[in-house]
Amino acid sequence: MKINGIINGFSKMSKEEKLKLIAGFFDNPEKVLKELKSYWHKDPKKQTLFDEFSENTLSNFYFPFGIAPNFLINGRNYMVPMVIEESSVIAAASSSAKFWAERGGFKAEVLSTNKIGQVHFLWNGEYQKLLQVLPDLKKELILGVKNITSNMEARGGGILDIELLNMADRIPDYYQLRVSFETVDSMGANFINSVLEEFARLLKTYFIKCPKFRDEERDCEIIMSILSNYTPDCIVRAYVECEIKDLALPDIEMTAEKFVWKFRKAVDIATVDEYRATTHNKGIFNGIDAVALATGNDFRAIEAGAHTYACRAGKYQSLTKLDLDDKLFHYELKIPLAMGTVGGLTSLHPMAKFSLEMLGNPNARELMMVAACAGLSNNFSAVKSLVTKGIQVGHMKMHLLNILNVYQATQEEKTKAVEYFKTRKVSFRAVSDFIHKNRSGPVLGIKS
Ligand code: MEV
Repeated sequence: MKINGIINGFSKMSKEEKLKLIAGFFDNPEKVLKELKSYWHKDPKKQTLFDEFSENTLSNFYFPFGIAPNFLINGRNYMVPMVIEESSVIAAASSSAKFWAERGGFKAEVLSTNKIGQVHFLWNGEYQKLLQVLPDLKKELILGVKNITSNMEARGGGILDIELLNMADRIPDYYQLRVSFETVDSMGANFINSVLEEFARLLKTYFIKCPKFRDEERDCEIIMSILSNYTPDCIVRAYVECEIKDLALPDIEMTAEKFVWKFRKAVDIATVDEYRATTHNKGIFNGIDAVALATGNDFRAIEAGAHTYACRAGKYQSLTKLDLDDKLFHYELKIPLAMGTVGGLTSLHPMAKFSLEMLGNPNARELMMVAACAGLSNNFSAVKSLVTKGIQVGHMKMHLLNILNVYQATQEEKTKAVEYFKTRKVSFRAVSDFIHKNRSGPVLGIKS
């Protein structure tokens, strides 16, 4: 595919025009058009809905939607919807959920739900004066956004506090309004950003008319107004706990004590070494992102905030911690999760809506707990495998179907292969050998 020059006015074109233009860059435009259209929804109304989630939509990009059953959380059973393309994630979440359901299940609690937004501005004046007018300024700001906040207030949320931060020691003249919000069941990004942009406008006007300021202090330069995805006051805690003796693993020749000892070392390593911490936390996000996607939540926002949280000790570390005493194994995940169950895609995307129904239409707090448990579940499963039989046996077993699909295997070949590899190590090579040995016709689907 060769693209020459800049494409002007792409977004203004019709969908058909965009498709034609893009397909035209390929050797076989007809084939490309057919392929892209083959993923369109058969119901044109639904397709329009998907088209309008984003811009310049040409087609849909399918991800599997699956379920991890047996999540016992605070005594209640959940079937957790997950959207993920990595073959072993749902299997890992499910196996760990069942493992813990047999040991009392997960416990979870929401510790806080506040979110932060910021108005960043430059002002060249006397800081003391700003402090003097602050109570009056706050009143004006809060009053000035009543039309935006009244609905949220009726639902039990709104603006909690406005702080003025003097950051002029870092950047000359730099100040910040740091605003905390409660957004109840919505993730609240649009609400927060609307309030902040209005605050910025009101702030500018306030400076112009404030009788306490000299003329040269009236100019306040708004740099930007935006929520922060760092939400260290929107925290959920999830944990599992059992007696160490109950961690004997029948399928693995390892005593409970040895398993717990190795598990301890693995968590310690993820605390002291950031290379391992990153992968350890990635295992947590396997679960959390999958739930976030399935429920129409913004996984990028969640990841950004949680990775910053993982650095709160001054260095990137594991988000889980293990507490052991003579008898008890207590494994915990504490993480900021700004999630919503109303607004955004949560009710617009039919599958997100279905996911929430599947979870019993939870409020945001309950969803935070479910997502945290999914994260802990995936992480426990990963670390358990890593310190026992290794990750590849299970991973490659799950990946077997993907490899078979590369070879365009028939259903009969798949059934035979799954049986054959029950007792054998899966590798790309081994599957390739299997196909070549068992297939009478030509081997399609891969360039030799
Ligand atoms: C793979 O998606 C996730 C793991 O690498 C997580 C971990 O190493 O803890 C298995």
